[in-house]
Amino acid sequence: MANSLPTGRAAYDFNGLKVLVTGGTAGIGLATAQYFADAGATVTITGTREAPQQYSDEDLGRFDYRQLSLLSRDSIDALCASVDALDVLVNNAGGTGGAQTPYAFEESVQVNLNAVWQLCQGLLPRLHEASAPCGASIVNVASEMSLYASPWFPGYGAAKAAVVQLTKTLAAQHGAAGLRCNAVLPGSIPTRMTRSFADDEAIHDAVCQRTPQQRWGDPAEIASAVLFLASAEASFVNGHTLVVDGGYSITDA
Ligand SMILES: NC(=O)c1ccc[n+]([C@@H]2O[C@H](COP(=O)([O-])OP(=O)(O)OC[C@H]3O[C@@H](n4cnc5c(N)ncnc54)[C@H](OP(=O)(O)O)[C@@H]3O)[C@@H](O)[C@H]2O)c1
Repeated sequence: MANSLPTGRAAYDFNGLKVLVTGGTAGIGLATAQYFADAGATVTITGTREAPQQYSDEDLGRFDYRQLSLLSRDSIDALCASVDALDVLVNNAGGTGGAQTPYAFEESVQVNLNAVWQLCQGLLPRLHEASAPCGASIVNVASEMSLYASPWFPGYGAAKAAVVQLTKTLAAQHGAAGLRCNAVLPGSIPTRMTRSFADDEAIHDAVCQRTPQQRWGDPAEIASAVLFLASAEASFVNGHTLVVDGGYSITDA
């Protein structure tokens, strides 16, 4: 029997809190932004385009929007300077680059690791000023590729593995000040980033076969894990890596 997807109605209360979800225009980031907004948060999202009207998804209109390129230090600094209050930072934006033009190793490390560090450094002052009852929090979206060799995308795998270590380091550095930092490691989720794999029947089925739940995940199932880690229900969860992959990583390759 297939289990149902999260309802998005778990009793998380983010009323009055300010949340920034990088890469909130699509996929996992959009689902996460929607869940936070439904739980009462004021949500800012980022995308690479100049304005939210340049995306086809009308739901983006419910969020505050900022342009961000993780390849540009100036763009990262400008985003950080524009944020005057913040309770939750979700470092979600990232990826392997375009299907035709995957990132070079160095670009991948900039987008998936250095940018996470740079955003954290730029926004930590705001997070330390936060008055959220559940404490301020960072959630980094790493990857199952944090755990495995990544022969097709070496920079991506190396960067995502390092994000797990960075998450623990930030948790250790800032825990005494009431700031928690955790990571979610998604398994295979059909989004724009993974479309070419999801559409390839052989790859799609191979993932299903190895996954004890016999299917791909849904962006909502990652969003749900992010909200848990940012919520008061996870008040003593710090430096943790939450793998959300239907059990793929516990089975033999
Ligand atoms: N899907 C999976 O199976 C999977 C598995 C493990 C980990 N992840 C991770 O989950 C996160 C979200 O991925 P997704 O699958 O939801 O991908 P997606 O649907 O392609 O969305 C990626 C988001 O990140 C933004 N983004 C991409 N490159 C960027 C850059 N260089 N600078 C600034 N923003 C950028 C995109 O903005 P635009 O819309 O403007 O391009 C978009 O908002 C990523 O960190 C990814 O590595 C995904």
